[in-house]
Amino acid sequence: MIKDRIEALRAELNEANFNYYVLNLPTISDFEFDQKLKELEILERENPQFFDANSPTQRVGSDINQQFTQAAHQYPMISLANTYSENEVTDFYNRTQRALNQDFELVCELKYDGTAISLIYENGALIRAITRGDGEKGDDVTTNVRTIKSIPLNLYGKNYPQKFEIRGEILLPWTEFDRLNRERQQQEEPLFANPRNAAAGTLKLQNSSVVSSRKLDAYLYYLLGENLPADTHFENLQTAETWGFKISDALKVCKNLQEVFNFLKYWDSERKNLPVATDGVVIKVNSIAQQNFLGMTAKSPRWAIAYKFQAERAVTRLNSVSYQVGRTGAITPVANLEPVLLSGTIVKRASLHNADIIENLDLHIGDMVFVEKGGEIIPKITGVDLDSRILIGEKVKFIKNCPECGSLLTRYQGEAAHYCPNENHCPPQIKGKIEHFVSRRAMNIEGLGEETVNLLYDNNLLKNIADIYELKVPDLARLERLGNKSAQNIKISIERSKSVPYQRILFALGIRFVGETTAKKLAFAFTEIEQLEQATAEQLITVDEVGERIAQSVVAYFADESNREIINRLKMCGLQFSLSAEQQQEKSNALAGKTIVISGTFAKNSRDAYKTIIEQNGGKNSSSVSAKTSFILAGENMGPEKLKKAQSLGVELITENEFLQLLENQR
Ligand code: IVH
Repeated sequence: MIKDRIEALRAELNEANFNYYVLNLPTISDFEFDQKLKELEILERENPQFFDANSPTQRVGSDINQQFTQAAHQYPMISLANTYSENEVTDFYNRTQRALNQDFELVCELKYDGTAISLIYENGALIRAITRGDGEKGDDVTTNVRTIKSIPLNLYGKNYPQKFEIRGEILLPWTEFDRLNRERQQQEEPLFANPRNAAAGTLKLQNSSVVSSRKLDAYLYYLLGENLPADTHFENLQTAETWGFKISDALKVCKNLQEVFNFLKYWDSERKNLPVATDGVVIKVNSIAQQNFLGMTAKSPRWAIAYKFQAERAVTRLNSVSYQVGRTGAITPVANLEPVLLSGTIVKRASLHNADIIENLDLHIGDMVFVEKGGEIIPKITGVDLDSRILIGEKVKFIKNCPECGSLLTRYQGEAAHYCPNENHCPPQIKGKIEHFVSRRAMNIEGLGEETVNLLYDNNLLKNIADIYELKVPDLARLERLGNKSAQNIKISIERSKSVPYQRILFALGIRFVGETTAKKLAFAFTEIEQLEQATAEQLITVDEVGERIAQSVVAYFADESNREIINRLKMCGLQFSLSAEQQQEKSNALAGKTIVISGTFAKNSRDAYKTIIEQNGGKNSSSVSAKTSFILAGENMGPEKLKKAQSLGVELITENEFLQLLENQR
């Protein structure tokens, strides 16, 4: 009886997932879905004998850190030969025709730019997911792959082989990529260069619940096994679609070269409208018998070829290289270019990332360089046009000393970036720290903008964050451009900041890698700064979302005598260095009794962070809009269904800023 109910629920939820994530045609409301999922969770918890790793309840991932084991590929995962021109495609066609000496069809499909995955199914259930690895063996990432909603855990129908493998590409959609990078930028974490790296990185995360939150997608493009349903690649994929796999619509059987070229031309521009990154077209011989006849070379199959789209590229002159020092002391080399038009915008500068990249490019001043945008957000230099190097300019050598303070730069083991170690005396680092400290989301001191901080610094009135509290109105009023009134306002704002809660001070201190969310987690785990000062790396790691890197950074921060001295001075000024019991109490009541639905994407915090904020303030998260919804926290691109429902029920929409203001006011 219970078993039947469990199975019925699983089937219904799988179907709903498929309709939503594969077909893009939702059939049941979010609310109904959540209700059923909850019922299933309860039944499974109470009846552990019916546990199934492929149950829809397992898609949420787990907090347990995993180490990946390696698994061998039954069929090696070899790659495709790349071509960049229609001539090479013609060569491939002629070669194939000669070898086969009979009629043949080609299938054109998009080359998805993500990370390859091999999925093994037995008796209609996903049993293993392996990354490409070295082609012979890869990492077993099954737990993470189970969180990808468009990958079926149990198949539809009956006509699938008892055991088979299907390969495809795991992708991070552009919108998710942008959201993730915005979040990382805020936390001063290195940005993902493109969705491919982000997808590969995500798949290797230790914590599958984080993987689940990142909304990976997957397209499948290659069926392997003993008893495949059909004699052609095309039909095999069509059949796999009926089992529940996401197969691209951009799939065409071509009878001649002209049809292939039409496909290449059409998708070269149309791909820009797709939600995921593509970098070319894969052309495959359709008949499996012909594929087998053609066989493989040592490196790639003879029956397929990848045609790569030309990345949009411009050629321009490298005028100079400058080096920027960030708030954390990281040095960013920047190429100053002769302005050039690239995909609709004028490019004057390009990131050179780090010393290794400069060295590999063998850059010289005056070189004509290739600039590309492609999947990357910041244009990058991909090569030097050596043919046009007539007069050789000076070789670009990465600087050894900080351009601002002259300190010898350091490079941490295993890290690509150089850093200026002079944290407390290097001007841009000091100013950057102060600007961060006073910023709205930190201490929110008004009137101390970049310009004023510069003036105060140049006038020797401000050398560190503790000096802020010793500024006097006459000192401020004496500065150029600052009248008495503004000086007084600044002083008022400084005084007011003394009541900023502990967790925001922790963020304001500017400890490397400690963003807003981490600061909050640390504040709740170590409710007084003295506890945090004494915490060891091992203790710090026990805090949610704190890894080795953050822990080391916190330890290093407090090991520095001058940081401790600054904190002592701030304490003397009356800043809040502990989380008072009543503050915790207050914090947990602001949204009491409210049921809130989050929808859309946000600029300042991730959706998950907002979920936590809602809970910490006593509110309840819900995924579907109903008459019980108190309000919707609405980001950009809110789901149209939710919007319609909200309008029909008259549920209020609150923007991100309004929401943060609401919390602020209640604090
Ligand atoms: S077929 C033996 N089809 O490109 C042929 N690959 O260099 C197996 N890729 O590792 C690959 N889209 O990660 C195939 N439609 C597609 C593809 C595709 C992307 C990737 C895949 C593979 C690499 C080949």
